Amino acid sequence: MPHRSSTPSPPPSWAIQPVPPQSFDEVVQFINTARNGMFPGRSLSPDNASLFKEGTCFLEARDGKNLIAAIGYIPYNHRFPQFFNFHDLNTVEVVRLFVHPRYRRCGLAAALFTALHDEAVNADVERFYLHTHPFLDGAIKFWEKRGFEIILLEDDPYWETTHMQLMVKRREEV
Ligand SMILES: CC(C)(COP(=O)(O)OP(=O)(O)OC[C@H]1O[C@@H](n2cnc3c(N)ncnc32)[C@H](O)[C@@H]1OP(=O)(O)O)[C@@H](O)C(=O)NCCC(=O)NCCS
Repeated sequence: MPHRSSTPSPPPSWAIQPVPPQSFDEVVQFINTARNGMFPGRSLSPDNASLFKEGTCFLEARDGKNLIAAIGYIPYNHRFPQFFNFHDLNTVEVVRLFVHPRYRRCGLAAALFTALHDEAVNADVERFYLHTHPFLDGAIKFWEKRGFEIILLEDDPYWETTHMQLMVKRREEV
């Protein structure tokens, strides 16, 4: 039997930065491909470059030139008025977190969210809102580890939409 090398493979490296305008199309394509894989059979309207409009914040991660992950926030648009009244605080919705499968479980999503959190603090955001689903492997656990709490678990047998929030500390408290 061949002897297995005990040399561990080096951890992947990456650089995180706000999505620059010249990468808008590439990142949108990356996100659309990711969403089609996450929600097969669901007809989602594809994103376009309007995602990067004023008030939003999107970050990308690259290994060299290769785009390997993305995350963003958009101003919360009060689309669930039956559940939440988020008019009290400056609230943004975390969206489009996706890490290329080859780079998972190395802390990349955690690093992306830390960077997004820093951007939010600088923008005087007061609350992060997001929703996710139990069928997305590891997603709820991931957000709980970042400090998010579940504020509503919808009683729908398929989607089990799980709404979560995290209060953002003010600049002077960080
Ligand atoms: C969920 C996702 C973003 C996690 O990305 P990642 O870079 O692998 O996450 P990290 O390595 O930063 O994980 C940090 C912690 O989150 C938790 N976690 C992440 N993925 C997990 C999984 N599949 N199962 C259980 N816990 C998980 C772990 O506690 C992990 O720490 P550990 O590795 O020390 O145990 C990634 O799996 C992904 O892109 N999934 C598809 C898209 C998706 O579901 N997005 C979230 C939509 S709300």
